[in-house]
Amino acid sequence: METPGTIRIEDDDYDAAHAAVHGSPLMRRLFADAMGDGYPAEVDPFSSCSWWLLGRLVTALRMPPGGRLVDLGCGRGGPGLWLARALAAQLDGVDFSRAAVEVAAARAPSFVPAGRARFHRRTFAGTGLPDACADGAVSVDALPFAPDREAALREAHRILTPGARLAFTARVTPGASDPPGDWPAMGHTTGFDLEETHTDEGVDPFWARLHASWLAHADALHAELGERAAANLLTEARVFATRRADLPPAQLLVLRRR
Ligand SMILES: C[S@@+](CC[C@H](N)C(=O)[O-])C[C@H]1O[C@@H](n2cnc3c(N)ncnc32)[C@H](O)[C@@H]1O
Repeated sequence: METPGTIRIEDDDYDAAHAAVHGSPLMRRLFADAMGDGYPAEVDPFSSCSWWLLGRLVTALRMPPGGRLVDLGCGRGGPGLWLARALAAQLDGVDFSRAAVEVAAARAPSFVPAGRARFHRRTFAGTGLPDACADGAVSVDALPFAPDREAALREAHRILTPGARLAFTARVTPGASDPPGDWPAMGHTTGFDLEETHTDEGVDPFWARLHASWLAHADALHAELGERAAANLLTEARVFATRRADLPPAQLLVLRRR
């Protein structure tokens, strides 16, 4: 999850993870313990999505009433569904994991009336959505996984109406083309202006606590999630224990479509 540009994760790895994590009481407990009172339990995020982030997203999107919101890399749907309910928006969630979009669709009635949310098994670079259909887009701990980040931004530009915002979490290395990369510069190239950036000071301590807890519960994770999903999470935890200190800070970026 916390791995853009560092570990190659395939879509069937995500399928395995989403299928295993959905309904895992242990994973929910470890996420909740690591995030503390910033944890939005109903959202059940597979990410660093906290009350802080949800509040910032509500403010940053400037959604019109009844507008359409797109959640890019929606996972099991929690952040987008919570935002769609809070903003009285229509929702399109996009994710390349079949397991994720199936779970997200099943969760939708707990958040929004029938017909207000749709989920699509598509990619960042090919959402399948119509031109200029969206009044806002979010992506929580997902867009940096795009294999071609400029193609992902061009696709976001295509589906947003002029003036609409794309709000997403990422790390930024000014002037660098290698991941994490210079997201404001890539945004400018692909037709966006940078409107806001906010550093989320809670993210790195959260991942450090979560990864430590996965390693401490390795046997229980294997038993509850199965070998493949548990092994991927434990690899992520080990890799990030050594690399976290070198990463730039986690940020919320808000780009406005020109
Ligand atoms: C860390 S999870 C975050 C999920 C969700 N946003 C949340 O906060 O719970 C990253 C998501 O990005 C999706 N993803 C990764 N690469 C993708 C791509 N190229 N196209 C579409 N989805 C992708 C994964 O399947 C996964 O659900």
